[in-house]
Amino acid sequence: MMTNPSTTTYEKYSANAAENYERDFVPVIGTPFARRLIAAARLAPGERVLDVACATGIATRLAAEAVGSRGSVAGLDVNPGMLEVARAAVPAGTAIEWHQGSAEDLPLPDASFDVVLCSLGFMFFPAKVEALREMRRVLVPGGRVLLGTPGPTPPLFVAIDRALTAHVGPGASMFVHAVFSVHDPAEVRELMDTAGFDEVETEIDTVPLRVAPPAEFFWQYVHSTPLAAIVGELDEGARVALEHDVVERCQPFVDGDATVMEPGLLVASGRRPSGDDR
Ligand SMILES: C[S@@+](CC[C@H](N)C(=O)[O-])C[C@H]1O[C@@H](n2cnc3c(N)ncnc32)[C@H](O)[C@@H]1O
Repeated sequence: MMTNPSTTTYEKYSANAAENYERDFVPVIGTPFARRLIAAARLAPGERVLDVACATGIATRLAAEAVGSRGSVAGLDVNPGMLEVARAAVPAGTAIEWHQGSAEDLPLPDASFDVVLCSLGFMFFPAKVEALREMRRVLVPGGRVLLGTPGPTPPLFVAIDRALTAHVGPGASMFVHAVFSVHDPAEVRELMDTAGFDEVETEIDTVPLRVAPPAEFFWQYVHSTPLAAIVGELDEGARVALEHDVVERCQPFVDGDATVMEPGLLVASGRRPSGDDR
């Protein structure tokens, strides 16, 4: 029988979600997802790449490696805190341009990129067709877009979601729902068609992940995402009860010293039509 912990590791994390994201989320989740998208993009040396919703820039940095010094890479995110950590994480000798702005209104000139990437960001955009139209506008005719979105909700996150709903309320599970909300290839194909892309293709894959043990992973996830503000309103007793419930619900996913999951990944790609110079 499991004993109830009397405190949590809640206090261990800094108040800076972007630093937590780069330290805890990027190595075990962001990187494997970004690598799949970069592989699908088949970037060539010399290409100009924009990474939309770059957060702390993992896909941006991988793109910079792939296009080399003859290419150029820019990252864009709406959150200045993420961009600050992104700037600090660029390896010496790599040049990346960073832009703060919204995917629906890119502060970038027409036809200035060969490739637009968006890893684990598209599902959060409130105006998806507008964001896709903006991606098309900044691509050269013939340029390509690649989106990577996770889902459906893996059983580990169903368990976490149930604990959040039980202890914090339905508002807390809205974030988890949003994360895994875009995984239907037909829906994404339709959005891309509407936005004017050609050669639209979708591929479904899975990404095996090994993350920290349940309590540690749960707090890492909370502190890397907007969940921190919601869960932060609980008092210590309520946080202890929440952690206990999470740990119990996540037992089926424990493998040795890790928690395991294999979320789905939808990769959607398309091209700005060659004759499209609007
Ligand atoms: C889960 S993070 C993923 C980011 C990153 N591509 C990665 O692989 O680590 C999602 C990011 O989307 C950004 N975002 C959400 N809505 C946005 C929007 N409308 N325009 C630009 N960025 C947005 C957030 O600020 C956040 O940094």
